[in-house]
Amino acid sequence: FTRGMEKINFSGGEPFLHERGEFLGKMVQYCKVDLQLPSVSIVSNGSMIKEKWFQKYGDYLDILAISCDSFNEETNQLIGRTQGRKSHLDSLYKIRSWCQQYKVAFKINSVINTFNIDEDMTDQIQQLDPVRWKVFQCLLIDGENAGETALREAEKFVISDQQFQEFLGRHSRVSCLVPESNEKMRNSYLILDEYMRFLDCRDGSKHPSRSILDVGVKEAICFSGFDEKMFFQRGGKYVWSKADMKLEW
Ligand SMILES: *[C@@H]1O[C@H](CO)[C@@H](O)[C@H](O)[C@H]1NC(C)=O
Ligand SMILES: *[C@@H]1O[C@H](CO)[C@@H](O)[C@H](O)[C@H]1NC(C)=O
Repeated sequence: FTRGMEKINFSGGEPFLHERGEFLGKMVQYCKVDLQLPSVSIVSNGSMIKEKWFQKYGDYLDILAISCDSFNEETNQLIGRTQGRKSHLDSLYKIRSWCQQYKVAFKINSVINTFNIDEDMTDQIQQLDPVRWKVFQCLLIDGENAGETALREAEKFVISDQQFQEFLGRHSRVSCLVPESNEKMRNSYLILDEYMRFLDCRDGSKHPSRSILDVGVKEAICFSGFDEKMFFQRGGKYVWSKADMKLEW
């Protein structure tokens, strides 16, 4: 009854926030063991993951993507990726080694914005050696980070297409880099919210479909705004099962 679904990706907010990731872990296990999905992944900021979680649920997770927008602690502070006195970069390295130890593919996500646009992350990324480095152009979504109130805040982060291309050019030596422009990002994901409604982001804000619990997948998916062609174009289909990755653990 997975209706052809092959991949699921849990994101937030911060997915490890609730119950130290216990419920998240149970969902990951369910998706792998019961549904037998080829690919189960999580995107997290990394600050709340404990080794215990890997011991319990690492087997069922294919990919862990950690958000890291800068390798400069001061820039992280400016962007708002703070975690008190703990260093975001220290936890990045720690998680990287847990991923190796517990056989989870390690991925990095970076959102390029006005604060990190001039950075050269080549050395650090090559040192961390993720299976994929997803590089996003900062995107404004109405009601999320845009909308009346938050708009002026978020606009401080927005960069032009040309600035984004310059950043990519500076990192052309990094072979695991997967760039994602605004245009590619907007409609190439099937996003489900906590009510199991697809969110259509095509016009720049999120419009929910009816819940698949009420009307089924076939009906709800028509209101998802999903662009399959764009999905393939952005490289959405890749080797996404850890069983198929040629990794050296
Ligand atoms: C999961 O989805 C988020 C967007 O919510 C994206 O940034 C990330 O790259 C995805 N991760 C994986 C492993 O597919
Ligand atoms: C990660 O998310 C948690 C929960 O929202 C937050 O308290 C913490 O400061 C974040 N850490 C980073 C490095 O962004």
